[in-house]
Amino acid sequence: MHTVTPTAGNGFQVYLETFGCQMNELDSELVRGQLAALGYRFTTNAAEADVVLYNTCSVRQQAENKALSRVGLMGIRKQESDRRLVLGVIGCMAEREGAGMLKRYPQIDLLCGPGELDRLPMLIDNALKADASVLADRVALQGNTSRRTATLAAAEDNLEMLDLSRAFDPDRATSGARSAYVRITRGCNKFCTYCVVPYTRGAEVHRPPDAIVDECRMLADQGVVEITLLGQTVNHYRYEHGAALTVGGEEAAQVGPGLGAFRRTAPVGARVTSFADLLARIHDEVPSIARLRFVTSYPRDFGDDILAVMRDSPRICRYLHVPAQSGSNRVLKTMNRGYTVEEYLEFIDRARSFLPDVSIAGDFIVGFPTETEEDFEASAALVRRVGFKNNFIFKYSPRPGTTAWDRLPDDVPDEVKRRRNNALLAVQGEVSAEVHGAYAGRTVEVFVEQISQQSAARTGNVELGWAPARVQMSGRTGGDLITVFDLPADVSAASLIGRVVPVRVTGAGTLILYGELAGVPAAC
Ligand code: 5AD
Ligand code: SF4
Repeated sequence: MHTVTPTAGNGFQVYLETFGCQMNELDSELVRGQLAALGYRFTTNAAEADVVLYNTCSVRQQAENKALSRVGLMGIRKQESDRRLVLGVIGCMAEREGAGMLKRYPQIDLLCGPGELDRLPMLIDNALKADASVLADRVALQGNTSRRTATLAAAEDNLEMLDLSRAFDPDRATSGARSAYVRITRGCNKFCTYCVVPYTRGAEVHRPPDAIVDECRMLADQGVVEITLLGQTVNHYRYEHGAALTVGGEEAAQVGPGLGAFRRTAPVGARVTSFADLLARIHDEVPSIARLRFVTSYPRDFGDDILAVMRDSPRICRYLHVPAQSGSNRVLKTMNRGYTVEEYLEFIDRARSFLPDVSIAGDFIVGFPTETEEDFEASAALVRRVGFKNNFIFKYSPRPGTTAWDRLPDDVPDEVKRRRNNALLAVQGEVSAEVHGAYAGRTVEVFVEQISQQSAARTGNVELGWAPARVQMSGRTGGDLITVFDLPADVSAASLIGRVVPVRVTGAGTLILYGELAGVPAAC
């Protein structure tokens, strides 16, 4: 097996495409940073790449199909080209499919699961230097290596180094982006019966709070003003100090408690950092972060302590992404979600009592096995009752290896799933329009992200700093509502991007607020 030297990537061009969730986007960013530090260069043109990497998602079959069609095309290109081209499949699909994927798709040179990304440079190096024939030189998967049988904590220490080594993101540096993700927890212990994540991303592991706060501070020093904390169930974050091994003298990542165990009390004398403590620390210790948000929250065990910290910390966004998945207690039970509709609503009402203007987003699955018309109507009723700002709505997709795949026949026909999907989207559309409409006449704080896509298309190649007749800017409120406003003639787009500005809302669509700048901060 090769050891990767700092010059390993010299001259090689990498094309990296990401499928799926925010966690994957962050993984891709870390992979880019790691490879860039080794001398690899990145291209947005797959045709000129020496190394093509697909960071894949397994949550639904559709996401896997997309990646597989890319793998198919790349197979043809490899056959037709006489150049050495390395094709790597990384992320959840690699982990779920396992080494057998190399046999089914011989054009793939390497597989790397999301829990092994620290080993990716070694795998690429092997593939570039030789025709690696030993499986261990081509494959790094949690289910496939001895790391799983060594202590999980030790394996996680290596992975922790990947987050810790995050020094520089070439993409962010060139785009001037002011927003970043920071991981607080890896993996998931919930085992919802439909979900593949606990199998592909492994057991829940919490990063040490000092490492998280340091990372936020470093990003803030680089100009980042908005940080989104990432975890599958962020509110379960919990770190017991003095309970973990150390990495280079620092506290190490910590294997999370098992099912339900986050309720336990710490050993006498142990110091614990809860999610509420972590939020308060980042808010107070990194004041140049203008916006702090987090996804995804689990509807159970979201304590008043977290809500109180949110209420008392003005730079924590009044925004919760808290998937309900279904409005039927019977379906929730079959999904193993561990809460009832009544408990979900109790949480929503409690959140609103602490944070009256909180904006709530979620996820729903339609067509879960055994879902009846009545169950579906209960989901529609829940969408109305909660008044979600938006929901991601998915048709149930059976995933191999999950409990639902093993035990529950996929008995809702696809046309019924499609109908329910469209019907729930329509209900959500009405609710979203109401939620957005209620902002008319109000002034909201908008984090300006970019020249609005439509505006950029209409005005052609808009240069930052130059304002043609009508340029519109777009950004988001603290509650994550997309807001578009006209750029005044005497203000440059570049001076607003990455800042939080007041916008008076003059109108609203289903998913967008329209407004006008209500005062430009002095430095603009
Ligand atoms: N089928 C459909 N949707 C799924 N999700 C997770 N697994 C599945 C599946 N097998 C959805 C859930 C989750 C979101 C990330 O993806 O709604 O919250
Ligand atoms: Fe999947 Fe449930 Fe974990 Fe979310 S909480 S990642 S849906 S198992």
